[in-house]
Amino acid sequence: MNFTHSIKIAPSILSADYASLRDESERVRLAGADMLHVDVMDGHFVPNITIGPAVVKSLNKATEMPLDCHLMITDPLDYVEAFAKAGADLISFHVESRSDIAATIAKIKSAGALPALVLKPGTPASAVEPYLRDLALVLVMTVEPGFGGQKFMSDMLPKIRAIRAMADAVNPDLLLEVDGGIVPDTAKLCVEAGADVLVSGSYLFGATDVAAAVASLR
Ligand code: DX5
Ligand code: ZN
Repeated sequence: MNFTHSIKIAPSILSADYASLRDESERVRLAGADMLHVDVMDGHFVPNITIGPAVVKSLNKATEMPLDCHLMITDPLDYVEAFAKAGADLISFHVESRSDIAATIAKIKSAGALPALVLKPGTPASAVEPYLRDLALVLVMTVEPGFGGQKFMSDMLPKIRAIRAMADAVNPDLLLEVDGGIVPDTAKLCVEAGADVLVSGSYLFGATDVAAAVASLR
């Protein structure tokens, strides 16, 4: 993935119209977004169900944007290959999932995608520390995963700072992504804490002027 901006905007299609994903992706791409954030939920790891590899495959044909697939599923090891094959550029899975973390990272890499780990709000920064060298990105959830439109948890800011500091020591190229309740005010706090990829669902897809909304986050 090649990016032109230092702060990258990843619209979450969870808030898009699922019957018009081609148009919705095009709308945010033309507005200046850098990648598409695809929320995959299995109804077990989180109390909601969304989409699987078949939709990722269609999306990959429908848009030039890199696909950032956030797997909120219990057994990511069993599915990462399918998502990579479907065209996921980046695959993030939860440190709280049931899969072996090192094995899942290795499988994502051998399938040709970039590996990322995600932390739920209750999980400390130390949980990802052993893996920082092997990851392209860490995603800090700033709401409980499962639903869009929730309120940003500002008590996650110290965790963002801690992971940025740990990563700078061992893997300075590591991207740090935040997800949940991102609007201009909270985006600013996250960037100041060290985040460089901002996921935003309800704010961006709910905007009448999406380009202005993307610019206001950046
Ligand atoms: C929540 C998802 C998010 C969600 C964010 O589990 O991971 O990506 O779409 O939505 P907003 O930006 O509305 O909080
Ligand atoms: Zn997400």
